[in-house]
Amino acid sequence: MEQRFVSTNAQPQKDAFHSKWQAPSNIALVKYWGKTPPQLPKNASLSLTLSGAHTQMEVNFIPMGSPTKKVSFSILFQGKEKPSFRPKLEAFFDRIIAYQSFLLHYNIVIRSHNTFPHSSGIASSASSMAALAACLVDLESQLSPMAEKLRLEKTSFLARLGSGSACRSLQGPAMVWGIHPSVVDSSDLIAVKLENIHPIFTTYHDTILLVDKVQKQVSSTTGHKLMHNHPYAAQRFSHANSQLASLLPVLKNGNLDAFVPIVEKEALDLHAMMMTSDPYFILMQPNTLYIINAVWQFRAETKIPLCFTLDAGANVHLLYPSDVADSVKLFIASDLLQFCQDRQCVHDVVGAGIKKY
Ligand code: DP6
Repeated sequence: MEQRFVSTNAQPQKDAFHSKWQAPSNIALVKYWGKTPPQLPKNASLSLTLSGAHTQMEVNFIPMGSPTKKVSFSILFQGKEKPSFRPKLEAFFDRIIAYQSFLLHYNIVIRSHNTFPHSSGIASSASSMAALAACLVDLESQLSPMAEKLRLEKTSFLARLGSGSACRSLQGPAMVWGIHPSVVDSSDLIAVKLENIHPIFTTYHDTILLVDKVQKQVSSTTGHKLMHNHPYAAQRFSHANSQLASLLPVLKNGNLDAFVPIVEKEALDLHAMMMTSDPYFILMQPNTLYIINAVWQFRAETKIPLCFTLDAGANVHLLYPSDVADSVKLFIASDLLQFCQDRQCVHDVVGAGIKKY
């Protein structure tokens, strides 16, 4: 039990409270893959915070006469009831109630919108759980004043209990989650912002090529479990931490020749883990591989430091600095959109994290 995150002084009020926060998605450069309860990572992960792909969340907290045993809530996603979201949210509220017991005195009405295309295969749990955590901490700070640092830390703490990667969406341009010897104040409980990032990364581009817009074959929660009895688990966790150690100086000095191979190896490591787990999965599709090969050829021919990363799915994230954005976008349009469903992609750039709207 993390005592400092328990809301001991927050007393429920008689008035309703309304909160609106938006939170972006993030793209991991060093991947979180493998966890132990309650949502503690097996290795440190590092991500760039995005901006365009985000969730806007509006939460109404309506006081009730007497407290309930479980948190009472309803969820409307893009204006419609979403029963399929309830189990994840129920599990989330069960986990956080020890830290925000005042929630039992409210009926919570959640309205959520995503800016990225619906069922695009882009993970939305990071942005939605970060936005929800921000609204919950907004209410708490209304009930009992909180210092800015504690507010941010508690938001990250709660977001993590909703979805691990969500705790990395609060600030930008880059965040680390998980204890790592080279990152000051790093923690398994919350993500921390990396300081002194080279300016090239503060405007970095991420174009998401939508190879497969249908639901992923493996949910990340199921995926993380595959690391439990994985023959390469121990090596993977320690290798991820070394990859992170190698990436830290690169994020400060802006050396893209060093950046590219670390990022691509991480993506392929993640997929190698899925291919060698029990049961095993191949989440890449033929078009994922066509794109990767085309990126390698383009990089060899043009010397433009375009690289890719992957999440637990077939879509490809293309990462590149803003000074080459025009050439890369032309290349995407002429050579890569043919491998995307409905020729769809989402252009995004690095951003600064959550904000009230
Ligand atoms: C491959 O954060 O979605 O995107 O904690 O179970 O909600 P849960 O998992 P989630 O896992 C993300 C996995 C990943 C890598 C990453 O973002 O670090």
